[in-house]
Amino acid sequence: MSLKRLDKLLCATGRWSRREVKELIRQGRVRADGRPAARPEDKYDPETVRFTVDGAAVDCSPFVYVMLHKPAGLLSATEDAGQPTVLDLLPPELRRRGLFPVGRLDKDTTGLLLLTDDGDLAHNLLSPKKHVDKVYLAQVEGTVDEEDAAALAAGMELGGGLRCLPAGLEPLGDGSCCLVTLREGKYHQVKRMLAARGKPVRSLHRCSMGPLALDKSLLPGKWRFLTGQERAELREIGSGQ
Ligand code: URA
Repeated sequence: MSLKRLDKLLCATGRWSRREVKELIRQGRVRADGRPAARPEDKYDPETVRFTVDGAAVDCSPFVYVMLHKPAGLLSATEDAGQPTVLDLLPPELRRRGLFPVGRLDKDTTGLLLLTDDGDLAHNLLSPKKHVDKVYLAQVEGTVDEEDAAALAAGMELGGGLRCLPAGLEPLGDGSCCLVTLREGKYHQVKRMLAARGKPVRSLHRCSMGPLALDKSLLPGKWRFLTGQERAELREIGSGQ
């Protein structure tokens, strides 16, 4: 928890000058968790306290967290000389904040991508030590079966002696689709594991990362800010281990 001065928090949103903020507070138009905030120098935890000005919510959290439904055809990068990136889907004010994707999805992979400027959270989500499950829906050539599930559960070895952590595989329907659960993110990992089983991936979609599931109402290419509840759940990951 880190406490910050109310006037600094409100100024950091870029919506008001220091003088305007002082005036808003003096006029009793600012509330913190529903109670009038009386003094600019009072300190609050911006991660947990909900602020309003004239009744409208004001997000004072120091970091930005965006859930994006990544469409196929965009790079999971912040910039590229020749090709469009996922950052192109965000408005200029968010691009200016220096958001970056938490882990990469291949250009043709779709689904959940988290973008943030919170480096610690990104580290926690990606570190294999934190045991954050990433769940992918894969459509394959041929059909997967229990033998494939056992091979992934044992921890596969990919070319060049690259050892994977044990992973989950759950065949769906007739086996032409499956859910794959990873706790790490090696390059093209799902595709390489399934190709090594003789079941090349036709399409790949990330459904979830730890507690964060792709919002089903988000169409490909659309995004939204994480809710307070989702942010709190992600922060829990950092507090473990
Ligand atoms: N594994 C892959 O092979 N590709 C992705 O985009 C993500 C995981």
